[in-house]
Amino acid sequence: MAESSPLRRAVLIGTGAYLPETIVTNDDLAQKIDTSDAWITERTGIRQRHFAAPYETAAYMGAQAARAALQAAGVAADEVGAIIVGTSTPDQAFPSTAVHIQAAISATKAFGFDLAAACSGFIYGLSVADAMIRAGQVDKVLVIGSEVYSRILNFEDRGTCVLFGDGAGAVLLQAREVAADGPGLLSTHLHADGTQAGILYVDGAVGRRDMPGHLVMNGREVFRHAVTLLSSAVSEALAANGLASDAIDWLVPHQANRRIIDGVGKKLGLPPERVVVTVDRHANTSAASIPLALHEAVADGRIRPGQLVLLEALGGGLTWGSALLRL
Ligand code: ACO
Repeated sequence: MAESSPLRRAVLIGTGAYLPETIVTNDDLAQKIDTSDAWITERTGIRQRHFAAPYETAAYMGAQAARAALQAAGVAADEVGAIIVGTSTPDQAFPSTAVHIQAAISATKAFGFDLAAACSGFIYGLSVADAMIRAGQVDKVLVIGSEVYSRILNFEDRGTCVLFGDGAGAVLLQAREVAADGPGLLSTHLHADGTQAGILYVDGAVGRRDMPGHLVMNGREVFRHAVTLLSSAVSEALAANGLASDAIDWLVPHQANRRIIDGVGKKLGLPPERVVVTVDRHANTSAASIPLALHEAVADGRIRPGQLVLLEALGGGLTWGSALLRL
C-alpha cells in the first residue's frame, strides 16, 4: 500500500516562561483598594498575580522566556528565523518588542515584529508562524506573549484592576516533515468583531496624546460573549480535524477567569483534570497567559509527547480563536 507523503508542519520543540519576582495577593490589593479576597476568588478564581518592577518590561520578560524556550529545545539563538511577539504593552511604539528581544538573545538571523490582538495575541501569533513555516519562508520561529498590564490598569477601578497580572511565555516552533498523525500544529482558527471594540479597550496610545491609556472593560458584556465565542472556536477546531472532544488530551485556555474556563470545559465535556489552570496564581496575563500555562504543564510533565492539545483565547477587539496541536 502506498504511504501518504509527509507534511511540512510547525512542531513545538521548546517552551519557556518568565514571571516577575513580585507577587501581589488579593489581601495585598485589599489594603489599597475597596475589595476583598473573598470577592475576587469567588468571581474569578484569582488568588494572586505577579506585578513587574520597572526593569521588567515586555521586552525584558519576553527575552527571558525566549531564552528558556531555546534552552529547552537545545537550539542556538542564531538558528531562529523569526520572532513574533503578541503584546498590547510594548516597551515602545517602535522599535518593536520583537527586535529588542532579537538583540537581547542575539538571534542575529531573525526578523521580527509585534502583533496586537490583545488576549488573543498568542493564538494569532501561532497562526502567522504556522503559515510562514508551511509556506517554507522560515524553519524556526519564536512565538512569544509578553505583557505588563500593571502599567495600564486603572487602580481607581476595582472592577478591572484586580483581574490582571504581568508575565511572559514563549514557544519555539520548528518546521518538520511529519506523517499525518505526527506532531505539529494541525490547524488555527482566527476571528474578530470590531463592532464590540467598546466593551474592552485601552483608552489611549501614542497616537492619542489626549488620553491616559488605561484599560476599560464592561465585564458583564465580555463574560456574556466569552463562553459562546470560545466554545464555537473550539468546536471549529474539532470539526476541521474530524475529531470528537474526547480525543483532546488537554485544553490550555486563555486564563481570564475561572468561570469562563470552567464554562468552556463543560461545553466541551472535558473533565477539569484535563484543563490547565494558572489563573489562580497568574491572574489574566493577556497574550502571555496561554504560553505561560502551556509551559507549566509541559515542564511539570502533565503534557507529554504525542498528546493532542487545544488552545483557545478571547480578548479585546473582540478577537478570538483556537489552535490544535499534537506535541
Ligand atoms: N471588589 C469588591 N467588589 C467589587 C469589585 C471588587 N474588586 N469589583 C466590582 N465590585 C462590586 C461592584 O461595584 C458591584 O457592586 P454593586 O452591586 O453594589 O454595584 C458588584 O461588585 C457587582 O459588580 P459586577 O461588575 O456586576 O460584577 P460581576 O459579577 O459581573 O463580576 C467580573 C465582575 C468578575 C469582572 C465579571 O464580569 C467577569 O468575570 N467578566 C469577564 C471579564 C473578564 O474576565 N475579562 C478579562 C479580559 S477579557 C478576556 O481576557 C477574556
